[in-house]
Order: sequence, then structure tokens, then C-alpha cells
Amino acid sequence: MVALKKTVQNFDVADPATSFAMDVLKGLKSTPKSISPKYFYDAAGSELFEQITDLPEYYPTRTELRILEDNATAISALIPAGSALVEFGSGSSRKTRIVLAAAPQLAAYVPVDISGEMLEQEAVALRREFPHLSVLPVAADFTQPFDLPPAVPPVRVGFFPGSTIGNFEPHEAATFLRSAAKILGPGAMLIVGTDLQKDSRILNAAYNDAAGVTRAFNLNLLKRINRELNGTFDLDTFEHHAFYNRERHRIEMHLASNKRQKVRVAGESIEFRAGETIHTESSYKYSANSFGALAKGTGWTPVTSWSDPNRYFCVHALALK
Ligand SMILES: C[S@@+](CC[C@H](N)C(=O)[O-])C[C@H]1O[C@@H](n2cnc3c(N)ncnc32)[C@H](O)[C@@H]1O
Repeated sequence: MVALKKTVQNFDVADPATSFAMDVLKGLKSTPKSISPKYFYDAAGSELFEQITDLPEYYPTRTELRILEDNATAISALIPAGSALVEFGSGSSRKTRIVLAAAPQLAAYVPVDISGEMLEQEAVALRREFPHLSVLPVAADFTQPFDLPPAVPPVRVGFFPGSTIGNFEPHEAATFLRSAAKILGPGAMLIVGTDLQKDSRILNAAYNDAAGVTRAFNLNLLKRINRELNGTFDLDTFEHHAFYNRERHRIEMHLASNKRQKVRVAGESIEFRAGETIHTESSYKYSANSFGALAKGTGWTPVTSWSDPNRYFCVHALALK
């Protein structure tokens, strides 16, 4: 487990190494095989994700940054004075900086992430950049219940950019929205970024970049398993597959075994047929209306939303009444 410095509040209840082993073995013994995308983000995975965000084919980050910049004043108007901005899956907090700069009335920023290394690093930088702001990082898995530190002001605005909500199955997205409502409390707002449905050529290109960074990001999961769980994956025998599943409105990322083989993981033997895959990520593409309907079903009221001229991406503002 990564040693977290004192300023990061760590809410992991179970030993993360044990849950990683248990989840990976469970996923590799299932049919079809799958592993949660939350395990992409060790230090190398977080770094590779940052490189993905700058790729020419990867439009989501650029587009969402532009939407946030163009609408920063309107977003700031929804943020009450003295409130806390709670970000789920904060990563490098690049998008957050736009909101923090536009909303000096915020009293606190609470980045929540499973990747402890990046949290501490960004917290140090953010305290320097925004000296008036209380920065209270929390290392937690947001798919599990967790509490915010007592110092977080009671009026809270959630921030969930990056279309990370699209990595959940729709029923899990609904569970997340209900749990965010509990964490944020009555009267809260939630600002969520979702990737929109679009031409499948644009989607397929975004997850199959020419430089091979998404491939490296996907394969890094096997490297992590080899290192942390005594795995014997031969990375040369697994291929990155990413494609748009039109019926389910989602990009699917897989790691496909190019031959029949046995791999050992955490002392157990896992068999692969030639061509068999591990499903490592889904990225659901919602229409603005379908996401609004999903949110409504969980108690959130859509207040407004912002998009780009191509309608590639959407940022929604939701309120808890
Ligand atoms: C797709 S990246 C988005 C990063 C950033 N918010 C953005 O919009 O560019 C997902 C981020 O969420 C974090 N993350 C993924 N699953 C998580 C989980 N279950 N709990 C907490 N953080 C998680 C990752 O470590 C990563 O920083």
C-alpha cells in the first residue's frame, strides 16, 4: 500500500492490496473475464492517463476544458459563498483549476481519488496557487461508502468531470448519484461531465490513438498485476482492443489473449482461450436527455447544461432539492 502523507485523509477500510487481489481473481475467473477500470490508476497509469488527455484523437478533455472555460461565470453563479467543492476522481485537478479561479467564494476544495500519490502532489501545488482555499484531500474509492473530513463546510458542490461516470454501468451510475447525494447533503449541487453519443469513427479513433498511448494504458494493468500480485502475464501475448458497441452506446476496452495460455496470478492459475478477452473498461455515451432522466430517477434535478458547438460533450448542473 502506498504510504500517504499526513494531509491526505485515507478512508480505505479494507487493505487495498487484498481487495485488489480478490477483485482481480474474481474478475479473471468470471465469464466473460473483466477487471474494474479503477485499477488502471497506479502511478504509471495516472501518468499515462495524463498523456492520453493531450492526444490529438482524444477530444473529451480538450472539449470539456473549453466548455468549462466558456461557461465559468455561469458555473460560478451556482456555487454558494463559503461552500466546499468536492471532486470525485480528481486526478491532476486540471479542470478544477478553471472552477476554482472563477469561484473565489469557495472556502474549501476536497479532491477525492483512489490514487494517493497524485492527490498529495496536487494538494501541495493547489495550496500554493489558491492560498485562500482550504485543500482537504481524501484518498478513497468512491464506489464504496466514505465520509468527508469534519473540517469540510456543510454546503457542498460536487464536481465529477472527465466522463468518469460513463465508466459505470448505468445502474452503478445511479447508485453513485444516490451515494453522492448522501455525501454532499441537502441543498447540494453536482456538476457532471458526460461524453455525448456521436459518429462511431470519432469514438473509435479516440480510444485507438496512433501513438499507442491508450494501448500502453490498457496493458499497464497487466504490468501492475505482475508487480503487485506475482502475475506472469506476457505482455507480448495480449492485444489492446477498443471499439464502439453501438447497441449499448458504449466504448469497450479489452485485453485479448492472442493464444491459448495459462497465467498465474496471486498463486492461482487462469486459463485463456485464443482470442479470449479481459473487459477492462466501458465508457458509456449518453444523450443529454438520457443522462438527465437517469439523474432525475436518483433524486437530482437537472438545472442546466452546457455543450460545445460540435455537441461532442456535455456538462450538466444538477441540484438536490
Ligand atoms: C478518467 S480520470 C479523470 C480525471 C479528471 N477528473 C479529469 O476529468 O481529467 C479518472 C480519475 O478518477 C480516479 N478514479 C477512478 N476510479 C476511482 C474510484 N473508484 N474511486 C476514486 N477515484 C477513482 C482515477 O484515479 C483518475 O484520477
